[in-house]
This record gives sequence, structure tokens and C-alpha cells, in this order.
Amino acid sequence: MSLFNELKRRNVFKVGIGYVLIAWLVAQVLQLIFESFGTPDWAIKTVLVLLAAGLPFALFFAWAYEMTPEGLKRERDLDRSQPITPQTIKKLKGSKTSARVLNSLIYKSRCKGLANWDLVNSILASSTQNNPANGITGVLVASETHFLQVLEGEFEALNATFERISHDSRHDKVQLISFTEIEERKFGDWAMHGIGLFDLNQELKFRLCEKFGEDNGNVRFPSRAPEVMELLNILFPKEQIGTAGE
Ligand SMILES: Cc1cc2nc3c(=O)[nH]c(=O)nc-3n(C[C@H](O)[C@H](O)[C@H](O)COP(=O)(O)O)c2cc1C
Repeated sequence: MSLFNELKRRNVFKVGIGYVLIAWLVAQVLQLIFESFGTPDWAIKTVLVLLAAGLPFALFFAWAYEMTPEGLKRERDLDRSQPITPQTIKKLKGSKTSARVLNSLIYKSRCKGLANWDLVNSILASSTQNNPANGITGVLVASETHFLQVLEGEFEALNATFERISHDSRHDKVQLISFTEIEERKFGDWAMHGIGLFDLNQELKFRLCEKFGEDNGNVRFPSRAPEVMELLNILFPKEQIGTAGE
């Protein structure tokens, strides 16, 4: 990394410019006050010298320390793989959006053509390849005509994965159902678990169609998160999925 980039990364330029502006403002105000009190010239000059002398200290402080979510830290104690600015912004905003905050994203979409196990398996192959590296877990439910997917993970990874998925030409009419913060993962054991409703036994299919409606002989996927959770609770009774937003 070049010296220029390192100075920028450590906010040295920002602190320097900020210091000069504030010092100039302080000098102006003090000059007005000193003039109205008839303070001798040397006093004003001393203040100017002191303000100028403070600049190197401010620059050193910006270089050596960083405000992190855990408080003020020496630069050399920081994890350098993380950019400083997002951490600082999060701290200053007092935001809960630390790197560890989990989110859950639910969407449904229409499959182009008829879904089958070959298609689902090819999606699962790339999902199980990519999701662990991105800290994403979840489930994918496929009927013959539609997909319903729950993705869990940290905000940025989730956003990037959903962006990729929504541009996938194997489906269209991607409809976001919910994007909410969650306390813990409901599908923590699954990089992506797939279930094909085209294989469903008749009794369960009938029960689901009765509850959620029917669409050309297929279960109609719900458009609201609480109903999605109800559907998942029926499909995965052992997982104790609970209700949306829990
Ligand atoms: C319904 C559906 C769900 C998908 N789910 C995921 C997923 O959870 N994770 C993922 O990485 N890709 C998923 N994909 C595939 C992505 O759209 C994309 O093809 C893939 O991420 C590209 O990865 P690759 O560059 O490693 O091939 C999904 C695609 C579809 C159609």
C-alpha cells in the first residue's frame, strides 16, 4: 500500500483538514475577543503559535490511533484486514450494524420452465460451493413453477448473494418478501438445503394446497413472512423454525 493510501486509510488527511479549519475559526474568534479587550499583540501571536504547534500532534494522533466499535485503539493493535472507515462510521452512528449482526432474507420467484431435481441440484451445487465462504445458510423450496428461498447471513454477504441470485436467468419475477435482522440462524446447519415439492406425497400436497392455495396443481407460495414460516414449519417439523422475525 502506498504512503498516500495509508495516510488516507488512517484518516490523516481528514483530521489535518478538519484541524486547520477549526484552528482558523478559533483564531478568528479569539482575535475578535482580544481586539475588543485591547489584549496585546504578543498574546494573539502566542495563541496562533500554539494552534500551529497542535497540528503535528493531531496528525500523529490520527496516524497512531483509531476509533473502533470497542473504543479507542492503537493502530498497531487493529485487524488490518478490516478497513477502518466502516468501523468508525458504525461507531459514530451508534449503529447496531456491527459485522456480527445477522439478517434473514426471504424471496419467491417464478421458475422459467418446469423445475425438477436436475435444476434444483445444479442450484444447490453452486450454493453449497459459495455459501459457506460467505457465511450464508438457508433453505430453497421449489415447486414445479416457483422458488421460495430463505437466506441467512451478515448484511453485505446477504445483499451480494441476493443480487447475484436475482440476476439468474433460470428464474424471474423475483419478489422480496422480507429482509429482517435476526438473533440467530434458523438454518445454521445448512449451507443451502433444497426441497422439491414436485416429489411431495399426495396427502401433504393436498394439506398444503388447502392451507396456502393452489396454482396450476402446485402449492401457491405465500407472499408474507409469517405464512412462509408456517409453510417451513410444516415442511421441516423437526427444525423448530418458529415464526418470522423471532
Ligand atoms: C432460485 C435460485 C437460488 C439460488 N441460491 C443461491 C445461493 O444460495 N447461493 C449462491 O451462491 N448461488 C445461488 N444461486 C445461483 C446464483 O444465481 C448464481 O448462479 C451463482 O451464485 C453463481 O455462482 P458461480 O459464479 O460460483 O457459478 C441460486 C440461483 C437460483 C435460480
